[in-house]
Amino acid sequence: MSLLRVENLSVSFRTSAEPLQVVDGISFSVARGETLGLVGESGCGKSVTAQALLGLLPPKKSLVSGSIQLDGQELTTLEIDQWRKVRGRKISMVFQDPMTSLNPLLTIGAQIREVVALHQKLSGKALEEEATAWLAKVGIPDPLARLNAYPFEFSGGMRQRVLIALALSGRPDLLVADEPTTALDVTIQAQILELLRKLQEEFGMGMIFITHDLGVVERISDRIAVMYAGRIAETGPSSQILSSPLHPYTDGLLESVPGFRPRRSRLVSIGGTVPSPGAWPPGCRFHPRCHRVLDRCRTDIPPVTEKAGCLWSCHNPLAQTP
Ligand SMILES: Nc1ncnc2c1ncn2[C@@H]1O[C@H](COP(=O)(O)OP(=O)(O)O)[C@@H](O)[C@H]1O
Ligand SMILES: [Mg+2]
Repeated sequence: MSLLRVENLSVSFRTSAEPLQVVDGISFSVARGETLGLVGESGCGKSVTAQALLGLLPPKKSLVSGSIQLDGQELTTLEIDQWRKVRGRKISMVFQDPMTSLNPLLTIGAQIREVVALHQKLSGKALEEEATAWLAKVGIPDPLARLNAYPFEFSGGMRQRVLIALALSGRPDLLVADEPTTALDVTIQAQILELLRKLQEEFGMGMIFITHDLGVVERISDRIAVMYAGRIAETGPSSQILSSPLHPYTDGLLESVPGFRPRRSRLVSIGGTVPSPGAWPPGCRFHPRCHRVLDRCRTDIPPVTEKAGCLWSCHNPLAQTP
């Protein structure tokens, strides 16, 4: 059974005019111990999807429909007090910018102790030891001394490690990491990816790794879901998606990853930009940017085709497996 099963999830925001739809009927699942890479350019609806998974969308301003089942429990109907038992313990999240998620006025130790105490009945010395152990677990050198440091005394990479410790301290079954390495230097990025991979394996948790960079998911994902303009363009095992994508959008993303296709002499970016919610074109939303566009792509929404663990939504896919 899947750990997470998302079915036909849609999210709209209430505006003064019509509700603005930003996620449109997406479905995917994550197995225990599996990492799903959720990829797509900025503005495709990845972060809104993550917020929906964690119940972080303001109920007065948003409409969520469809189903999100975590370990058999439906999350879309949870009340605020029920979320307290789920968030941090069953599902947790790491964000892009560790500075805004840490309190600049409190020491790292105070923040870790506070979160650890939510999950375990510990105090005094035992709480301090557990907090220190978490800093050590995420690779912070000299953890006992670092408990007294403030967030500004940590580098970006070290702050992200603290956030990972906070997110994992409740031993969640599923971690949602939303662009956790985007704000970091390339070498630090690689270290954080490696840390997440290691912890995921150690805890056997499922992970959704969100990024706009297909080059990053390559290293960490078992499967990849490619998102475009509120929908899923294509899903499949990483090796398949990266070596022989079916959707021209995935292919375009791969063309623009430096060094990914070494035989090519130059990087080709996809022309145009992601359409905004409210201005999604009819038919396939990618058609205005697609070099394989057919007449029907302009009018008909492509149906979802499924074969051998791959799902795609395209009228004219690249290399249809026989
Ligand atoms: N609270 C909100 N109210 C209205 N629109 C929003 C809100 N949050 C995000 N959006 C819009 O939803 C779309 C998807 O955003 P987001 O999920 O952040 O994209 P991504 O993470 O893929 O870059 C964007 O067009 C964004 O402007
Ligand atoms: Mg985002």
